[in-house]
Order: sequence, then C-alpha cells, then structure tokens
Amino acid sequence: MNHPATTRTLLGQPVGIATLFLTELWERFTYYGIQSLLILFMVAPAASGGLGLDDQSSSSIYGLYVGSTYLLGLLGGWIADRLAGAQRAVIAGGLLIAAGNTLLALGTTAIFFVGLLVIAMGVGLLKPNVSALVATLYPEGGARRDAGFSIFYMGINTGGFLGPMLVPLIATAFGWRFGFALTALGMVLGVGQFLWTRRFLGGAGLTVAPEQRASWTPIVGVLALLAAAVLLALSGVVRVDAALLASGASRAVSLLAVAYFVYLLFFAGLTGTERKRVLVMVALFVASVTFWAGYFQQGGSFNLFAARYTDMHILGWNAPPGVLQAADSLFVIILAGVFAALWLALGKRERDPPAAAKFGVALLLLGCGFLVMYFAAGRVLSGHRVLSTWLICAYFLHVCGEMCISPVGLSNMSKLVPPRFLGQAMGMWFLSLALGGILAGQLTGEYDASHLESLPALFLKIFWYGVIAGAVMLAVTPLAKRLMAGVK
Ligand code: PHE
Repeated sequence: MNHPATTRTLLGQPVGIATLFLTELWERFTYYGIQSLLILFMVAPAASGGLGLDDQSSSSIYGLYVGSTYLLGLLGGWIADRLAGAQRAVIAGGLLIAAGNTLLALGTTAIFFVGLLVIAMGVGLLKPNVSALVATLYPEGGARRDAGFSIFYMGINTGGFLGPMLVPLIATAFGWRFGFALTALGMVLGVGQFLWTRRFLGGAGLTVAPEQRASWTPIVGVLALLAAAVLLALSGVVRVDAALLASGASRAVSLLAVAYFVYLLFFAGLTGTERKRVLVMVALFVASVTFWAGYFQQGGSFNLFAARYTDMHILGWNAPPGVLQAADSLFVIILAGVFAALWLALGKRERDPPAAAKFGVALLLLGCGFLVMYFAAGRVLSGHRVLSTWLICAYFLHVCGEMCISPVGLSNMSKLVPPRFLGQAMGMWFLSLALGGILAGQLTGEYDASHLESLPALFLKIFWYGVIAGAVMLAVTPLAKRLMAGVK
C-alpha cells in the first residue's frame, strides 16, 4: 500500500530526500571505494598483503562482481515489490553490504569471495529500491520528481567521489584491510542513518499490497542453490576457474537476452507497430552492452594501468592509484548540469537528438577515450611511466559518453516496450549493464603484463568496438526514428 510520505519539507523538498540521499551516498562510497581497491588487491602478491591471484582470474572476478551487482538488482526489485517492501529491502541490503565488506576486511581468499557475493546481494537489494523510494516522495511526478532525482544523483556521485578518494588513502597508509573496514563503516553509517530518519519516508515502500504478494519459495530455492554452490567451491569439491565462469556467465546472459527478444518479437502477440519498436530496443540493448563493456574498464584495466604504468604524482602528492577513479564522479558532478542544459536547449529548438543518435555519440566518445589510452599505452611500451593526465582525459571522455546514454537509456527502453511489458524493459536495461560488466572483466583479462604489447592492442580493440558501434548507431538513427514513430 502506498501512504504518502510525510509532508514536511526542507528547502522546498520533502525531508525524506535527505534520508535517501545519505543512504545512497554511503552505499556508493562503499561500492566505488571497494572498486578502487578490488583488482589491485587481488593481483597484489601475498607478501604485500594481497591475494596474489593472476591477472586473468582477477579480471574475470572483477567483471563477475560488477555484473552480479546489476543482475541481482533484478531480483532485489522483485523482492521489494512482491515480498518485503522497498524500505525493508534497503535495510537488509545495507546490512548485507556492511557484512560483506567486513568479510573482505577479515578474510582469507575463500572468505573474500564469499564477501564479494554477499556485497553483490546487498547492492542488488539496496540500489534499485532506494531509487524507487525517491519516486514515491514525489507522487506528483513531473519536474519536481526530476529535481528530486537530480539531488539524489548528486548523492550517488558525492559517494562515488569520496569512496575512491578516501578508501585507497587509508588502504595505503594502514593496509588493505583497513581500506575495506572503512567501507564497512561507511555502510553502517548509511544504514544507521536510514533507520534513524526513515520516518520521513512515511508509509512508502513499507508494505506489499496483498494482490501483489508472491511466495518466498523461489527466493529460498535460489539461495539454497547458491549456498550449495558456495559450499562445494569452498570445500574444494568443485574447482572454480574464474575465467571459465566469466565466459560461461556472459554466454548465459547473452542467450537469455536473445531468448527474451525472440519471445517478445514472435511469441508475445505484438502488433506490427509494437514489433518495430522492439527492434529499436534490440539495437539500444546491443549498443548499451558495448558501451558498458568499455566503460567498466575503469575498475579493471584502467586501475591496473594507474597502478603499474602511471606516475601518480599529482600536484606534488604521490597519490595511491585507486584515487584516479574519483575523477569519474567528479566529472559527472561538473558535467551533469552542462549536459542537462544542452539537451534542454536543443529540445527547445526541437533538435534534441533521438535516443539512437545519443547512443551513437556516446559510443564514439567511448572510442575516443580508448584512443587516448592506446597512445598512452604506446608510451608505456617504449619504457615510460606516463602522467595521470592520460587516464583523466579518458575518464573525461567516458563521462561525456555516459551523459549521453545514462539519462535516456532506461527511459527509452520503457517507452519502446508495450506497456504491459514495462517491468521487463527495465530488467533488460539492467541486464545490459550486467552483461557489459562481465564482458569488461573478460576484456581486461586479454591484457597480459608479460606481453606488454597486449595493452595497446586491448585499448585499440575497444576503440574500434566503440567507433564501429557508434557509426552503426548513427547510420541507423533515421531508420530507428521511423520505427519509433509515435513514441514520445
Ligand atoms: N555512477 C552512477 C551509479 O553508480 C550511475 C551509473 C550506473 C553509471 C551504472 C554507470 C553504470 O549509480
């Protein structure tokens, strides 16, 4: 049932937005804080406190981790809608994240992987539902709700900036485990704050309407299977090869996507017009996967590049490599308003580019970022450590790309799908992020430190992916526009 949230306001906004802002800030603080350490910790030799894993396994695990946070978001949304309500899902998610972070801080290698799994489950429960709660604070929708989401978005990026700034610093000063412990502390603060101030959310997301209610049985079943798999792996009965697991997972997710679109196109009883729109959805889905597979290099090959080949002296300060990932959120904070104004100005002149064109531009920008890194890697090959400016430039271009894709991706998926399949369209967007994440890890795994020429080769390859996919999207834009006739 949806009770309106409390009517108290702060600077014209419902007070509850502060609750959600801080919850998401701390969650992103821990998420991106961990991301800034993750691959470096896995590849660091045991002598320096790391796990001493090989590059390829570490990359695959990184991709599987990122992918599962988005994949489990699907489950998390369902659990909130059908079983627990969004508020309880956020609390449980936050607690799981904090528990997972603690496992990272404590653990041996095996415990560390369990920790990652627990975090992914927590993010899956928390992230989609805290966003859903934002919407409930603005029942009137429209511009006010947009403003609410803009504030919330700043929470995301403040956390995304602070995490990679502080966590690597602490990890360098006191040891990896203290870095992970800091992320746990952040999440505890986030959940504590949520519990303390959630009365400002009113009854939103507190209960599930009886006609919506589903059974816990499938969830318990999935958890039992997962627990069994973890036990088998921990006990050594099955040996898990991370690279194999990643390639199996990306194939399975791709197959799922293909099966879904085939079903939608041929077996869901769509009309001709609806079918044409689904074709556009397919194109956006493929473009989105390509974009994220490149974009998520940030926690993979880019982080390794920062640690191994970048001179990290910034304004006289010898920074730990992970801090460069703070550039991403910093650029988002700087550029979000600029791009919003740009789209608005173009919209007023009726020249706001159609979604397919924005996806095309995003992919071209992504490609440009990789071209920059291709040249940087060329310098590395000739024996130099390079300035951090190269990576910062690449991040800048990637964030410009993100500004073209993120604000329109989900909304276009939802407009293109026949309304009765709306929930599934949202799911497909998250599936594209998940698949992009897993593929990102596999791509990073193609770089082999003992054959350094594999590094420029990797960046050049992703450059071509971006440019070709971008050019295709721009080329099909007129067609996509025709197929989308009638979609506002
Ligand atoms: N950085 C934002 C977040 O973490 C938005 C984003 C989501 C960007 C997914 C890329 C991929 O929520």
